[in-house]
Amino acid sequence: MERTLIIIKPDAMERKLMGKIISIYEQEGFHISAIKILKPSAEIAKSHYYEHKNKSFFKALIDYITRGEVCVLIAEGVNAIELVRKINGATDPVEAEPCSIRSRYALSKTENSVHSSDSLKSAEYEISIWFPEL
Ligand code: PPS
Repeated sequence: MERTLIIIKPDAMERKLMGKIISIYEQEGFHISAIKILKPSAEIAKSHYYEHKNKSFFKALIDYITRGEVCVLIAEGVNAIELVRKINGATDPVEAEPCSIRSRYALSKTENSVHSSDSLKSAEYEISIWFPEL
């Protein structure tokens, strides 16, 4: 059993897509073992996206993810990291696979509705910053 960290981002929260998106993961058989809604601080956003701190889009990314509420959850299941990324689709909605969450709902490469961990190491790191109480 593997765990991954998912974020339902502000663009999706603002359009009231949270329930629809969570039910997609549940229908695919994942168990949601922790969940919270919060407006991220700049500090937690910068910790989460530290790998991109030198990228040209870093400021826009932090401004976006901190602009409103997000829903953060832990999904558990077999091969969760790879399968959730498949369900989400490619970062850029123009390239996202048909039927993926980003193909259906994302607005742009920045406002792309969902995030999920890309490796075991990043999953454990991201879970530790968003769910320090676990
Ligand atoms: S990269 O450049 O290959 O590292 O980018 P990628 O891994 O595809 O995406 C990293 C996260 O940054 C967000 N983001 C952007 N990426 C690329 N270009 C632009 N302009 C951009 N703006 C924002 C993108 O949504 C990814 O966020 P997550 O939450 O990881 O999906």
